[in-house]
Formats: sequence, C-alpha cells, structure tokens
Amino acid sequence: MTARRFATRVVHAGLESDPTYGSVIPPIHQTSTFVQPAPGQFVEDYDYARSANPTRAALERALGELEGGSGSCFASGMAATHALLTAHCNAGDHVILPRDLYGGTYRLVDKVLTRFGVAYDMVDQTDLDALERAVRDETALIWVETPTNPLLNVVDVEGVVARSGGALVAVDNTFATPVVQRPLELGADAVVHSATKYLGGHSDVVGGAVIVHDPDLHERVRFIQNAVGAVPGPLDCFLVHRGLRTLHLRVAAHTENGRAVSDFLRGADEVADVRWPGFGGMVSFRHPRATSIAAATEIFLLAESLGGVESLIEVPQAMTHQSVEDSAAAVPADLVRLSCGIEAAEDLIEDLRRAMDHAPAA
Ligand SMILES: Cc1ncc(COP(=O)(O)O)c(C=O)c1O
Repeated sequence: MTARRFATRVVHAGLESDPTYGSVIPPIHQTSTFVQPAPGQFVEDYDYARSANPTRAALERALGELEGGSGSCFASGMAATHALLTAHCNAGDHVILPRDLYGGTYRLVDKVLTRFGVAYDMVDQTDLDALERAVRDETALIWVETPTNPLLNVVDVEGVVARSGGALVAVDNTFATPVVQRPLELGADAVVHSATKYLGGHSDVVGGAVIVHDPDLHERVRFIQNAVGAVPGPLDCFLVHRGLRTLHLRVAAHTENGRAVSDFLRGADEVADVRWPGFGGMVSFRHPRATSIAAATEIFLLAESLGGVESLIEVPQAMTHQSVEDSAAAVPADLVRLSCGIEAAEDLIEDLRRAMDHAPAA
C-alpha cells in the first residue's frame, strides 16, 4: 500500500479501537495505578501513571508518527522544553537561543538553567553567518523557534543544521505545526510543542510534547519525564488527541483568515510592519494605539495564548513577553499580536476596523 497522506494519518494517528468492547475511540484511562499480575510484573509497561498511561501513550504515538520520531508528552510546553534541555545539557554547556522567542523559554534558560552552570547567547538566526560565529566547542544545543513569537521571523532549519557544528538542533514547532513544517525531516534532532496551541486547538487544555529521532535521546527525555514528573493527565491527553484529528482542516482555515486579515492591515491607516509568515493564523503589526485597540475588539478576545478556533488579540510587551523586557529579545510596546481563529474572515476584519476607528489615543 502507498504511504498514507498527512490528512489520513492525522485522523487515525495513535488510535486503536478498544479491544474489550470495540469502541472506536479508546477509553480515557483515568487511573493513577495499575493492578500487577504478580509483584513486579506489569501489563505492557504500565505500573504507575506518572511513568506511563495508555491515554498518554496513544497521544505520544500520534505525535511521534506525525513529526517522524518518538514522542513524549508533558503537562505544558514549558515542561516539555525543560525536559529536553535538562535531558541533553550539563553544567559547563553553552546554548544558543534566538534573538526573538517566546518569553517563557528565555526565562527558563536565563533564570533557571544558568543557576546549574549552563551559559547562553542570543543570535538573530535569520543571519546564518552570525549563528555559525556564535557556535563554540561547548555549544551543546541550538534552540530554534520558527516562526518566532511574536515577530514571526522564519528561520531556515536546514541552514541551521548545516552550521550547527555538531550541536543538537531543537525546533519549537508550536506556530508552524507538522502540517506546515516537520523539522526532523529537515535534519533537526528534536521538536518541541506547546500542545496548548494549534495541536489541541480549542483553548481548553495546557500541554506539551517533545519528539526526537535518536532512541538514546528519547530514553533520556523519558527518564526526565518520569524523574521530574511534569506529566499531563489522561483527560488532557484525550483533549489534545481529539483536537489533533482536525489539525489539517483548522490550519487551512487559520491560513485563509491570516491571509485576509494581513491583507486588510497592509492597507489600514497608521498600521506599520505587518507580519504574516504565509501560513497559519498568527499576524503581528505595529500601531501607535496598540493597547487601546487590543481592548476595543469584540470578536478578538483580549487574552494570552494562541492557536485556538477563536481569535485572540494581545500586546506582547505588556502580556506574554514581560520576561524578556530588559534582554536582547525585548519587543516594541506598540506591537499587537493576533491569533486569527476560524471565524468568518469578514467578521474579523470588521471587528479590527471598528476597533481602530474607535479606540482612543493612549
Ligand atoms: C512558541 C511557544 N513555545 C512554548 C510555549 C510554552 O507553552 P505552554 O504555555 O504550553 O507551557 C509557548 C506559550 O505561549 C509558545 O508560544
């Protein structure tokens, strides 16, 4: 049989019908522990639900299949990032971060990992020569975010891999999703997701995932997953898995709305620096009345996060990116970030137009 297309795989990935009753969707294994047939004997590898749970295992199989590696799921995107960084990095190692990135990733490295002897530099990764110059003998890991949050810069993953000098290349694929970009196929070693965003897709769950190629690295990530214990509950895994099955349709709809909204913004008065990477629902722009516009929209809800079916608006400097305020990754105060949902494009444009017409000067 020919290899199945992404749309077919995303609907079925990780799911096997229940062998007991034949339910098409397997039950949610809402349990903390498992009966052992004899002391120390387990059914498969299920002994205790921090270590493994069938509902989590199904999601891990699905994400591994879609990204092309072995998946491990976590209680949040930050727990996933922490697991990969601590599975791979040791005291004395050096890490390269992008110059603009999700503020929480910067905070984890700058405020936590440096206390354990990890050093870092920040580099504009759209400049591959600058990236190559920043790689040192001690560089253990290059963290890539593409598109970046919130400036939506696109980084050439294959170019980074070619200049990595043997360092592990990890890509935060939260914004692109495996529908658009599969970093492991581009030569990266690891993919990290905030499953809270497009994978779950309905703003009703917080979760994260790490997917890697190398079986040894997978084992080390698994060890941290169990040793630290930042695991997602079965219901959260079920919700992400259910959302995942429509990922391709949602990303297509987000893309149509991202295109329509960015086209409108490019022609709007006082709007500058409109950014849309050419796919997905993330759009950013600058406007002198950024904060009052963000408070004036009605369909675009004023909230942190992104990637859900409903549209959200935020001002990164005041909301999601306060932790980078005094760093090289600081964002301008007049920047607005939109997560365009899957509502009617005309209504989203009308909402923005009305907010811009009526929002008072700050
Ligand atoms: C690009 C990116 N990576 C990681 C995270 C962290 O994910 P979580 O909030 O699920 O911990 C976020 C959160 O906004 C994000 O935008």
